[in-house]
Amino acid sequence: MASGRGKYLETCFFSQSTEASKYITLEKIGQGNFSEVFKAREKGINQKIVAMKRMLTYNEKDGPPISVLREVRLLQHLKHENIVSLIGTCCSSSSFYLVFEFCEYDLEGLLKNTKVNLRLGELKNVLQQLLKGLYHVHSKKISHRDVNPANVLITKNGILKLADFGSARAFCLPEPTEPQNRYTNPVVTLWYRSPELLLGDRNYGPSVDMWGAGCIMAEMCTRSPILRGNTEQEQIKLISQLCGSFTPDVWPGIVKLKLYNEMELPMGHNRKVKDRLKGFVRNAYGCELLDKLLQLDPNARIDADSALKHDFFWTHPMPSDLSDMISRHRSSMFYYSAPRTNQMKRPYQEQIGNNQIQNKRQYKGYEDRIY
Ligand SMILES: Nc1ncnc2c1ncn2[C@@H]1O[C@H](COP(=O)(O)OP(=O)(O)OP(=O)(O)O)[C@@H](O)[C@H]1O
Ligand SMILES: [Mg+2]
Repeated sequence: MASGRGKYLETCFFSQSTEASKYITLEKIGQGNFSEVFKAREKGINQKIVAMKRMLTYNEKDGPPISVLREVRLLQHLKHENIVSLIGTCCSSSSFYLVFEFCEYDLEGLLKNTKVNLRLGELKNVLQQLLKGLYHVHSKKISHRDVNPANVLITKNGILKLADFGSARAFCLPEPTEPQNRYTNPVVTLWYRSPELLLGDRNYGPSVDMWGAGCIMAEMCTRSPILRGNTEQEQIKLISQLCGSFTPDVWPGIVKLKLYNEMELPMGHNRKVKDRLKGFVRNAYGCELLDKLLQLDPNARIDADSALKHDFFWTHPMPSDLSDMISRHRSSMFYYSAPRTNQMKRPYQEQIGNNQIQNKRQYKGYEDRIY
């Protein structure tokens, strides 16, 4: 077993790991770059339904990869109603699993289903729960770094759970005199990736997650991802068309970013977030909040605490619980099992810390979709 990880593995994993044979897998519900996820049932009297995330990069000799150790450690640290709860870990001779509480839906599966109609109060509720989850994560000085609808789960009781902490990292706010953070770049699924990450910022903070929350909010209104670039360059172009050109006037720190002079930054675009999205949001407070979430300058972007205090959540219609919506759609809905159309194909994800596995689901058809 890799030496530096020995103590960690002992305390985090093998002392508590159970046998995978304790569970019967029922169906596959998710597939990612480094894992596949199954719905499973505990054997014996318990019969508890769980989600088992099987790590594809596991081998018995080296043990679980460092990214899995991180995911477990962070999840152990992040107990909250809106964060998915890790029940434990288990292994068989060839596989290593994380075992989670089971959630019936993921937001991507729900949004792709045209029969699911989200009322404004329900949309507010989903966003509010997402922001509460993010507030908790950020208050623990952690960035999730892959906020996208497939990582937002919802239980049959209408409770939102932020999931997939495989890319999450602890951050510290640097003092001006201290060396800056040197985080890996890139992270975050391309369509939800913030402007600072696209420009190679390696000193980013929780605001990268707030950009993702803004993209999710807009997607809940339009019912389709709003910024569907196929490459970083195309993503920058689409963001510029919606949020205005990337200039030092609106974003003073931009000139210091590594790729500022390397990427092509389209000039002459005005900001059109409210204009283009107001027909979908149909709520003035909603447009205002979206505008604050989709700020190019990370320092100007609203944080989770301020977003939760925004009038959007405190004016009629108030956030309403999701039980009504869920009672109309009893069967599970996941991105993985949703019927495929070209529009649904997700972009490639460049994941960090592992270049062994490439995402095989390249998004082929770039479509310049402007909201
Ligand atoms: N606790 C759960 N309950 C129900 N479904 C889940 C649960 N956890 C994950 N899933 C489903 O499996 C999918 C993939 O899980 P997750 O996001 O954790 O891993 P991943 O995207 O495969 O990660 P990576 O790409 O880093 O390997 C989710 O989008 C969701 O549909
Ligand atoms: Mg995921």
